[in-house]
Amino acid sequence: MAKPDSKSDSKSDDLSSKFSHRDPSHPDFWSERFEQDFMPWDTGGVPQALQQYVARSKPATTLIPGCGSGHEVALLSEAGWDVTAIDFSSAAVDAARKVLGKWSERVLQADFFTYQPQQPLGLIYERAFLCALPPAKRAAIVSRWAELLPAGATLAGFFFFDDAPKGPPFGISRAELERLLHADFELAGEQEVTDSIAVFAGRERWMEWRRRA
Ligand SMILES: C[S@@+](CC[C@H](N)C(=O)[O-])C[C@H]1O[C@@H](n2cnc3c(N)ncnc32)[C@H](O)[C@@H]1O
Repeated sequence: MAKPDSKSDSKSDDLSSKFSHRDPSHPDFWSERFEQDFMPWDTGGVPQALQQYVARSKPATTLIPGCGSGHEVALLSEAGWDVTAIDFSSAAVDAARKVLGKWSERVLQADFFTYQPQQPLGLIYERAFLCALPPAKRAAIVSRWAELLPAGATLAGFFFFDDAPKGPPFGISRAELERLLHADFELAGEQEVTDSIAVFAGRERWMEWRRRA
């Protein structure tokens, strides 16, 4: 799962003994990995499908849950979008603020499950957040997406399809994703991803889900 500059080449870092935190539901799990510069999920930039989405869409008030290094914040901000990125790991927030420079105030340390936006949201951008948490958290994530987005708003981003039992990343089947989202969201668009990093290559799709009324 590693990118070339990562310090491990294992698919799941839980196979490595160098980390003491094993529960990805806890911020320390992620802080330890950011502090040791182990971020094999990090693209180091903005995926093409998001760039294309921003180019063809009207600016929307956007939330990025579990933003990590938050490269996307600069693209959205420079395109005039009102974006807030949150992460519950202090080390992730530090990493994002280093990456983002003048846009760093748009990154907050906050837990997705309790964060309250200041403005009604038009978009939640998803990348490597759903697959970062254990499958038992999926229903809660979907419920929170539905709570945070008003009717007509969009959940858009990258969804990782895989059936490997271990993670992160925890892949999901398309059938399970559709089952979880069906009550509150309808699929409004999707496309192949052609610039995936190795860990996700061939197993992720860009999807746009519209919040039902
Ligand atoms: C695999 S990383 C992905 C980071 C980023 N989205 C990316 O694409 O590079 C998952 C991130 O989600 C964050 N995270 C996990 N659970 C969270 C929660 N409940 N609230 C906020 N952030 C959370 C972690 O701290 C970590 O930075």
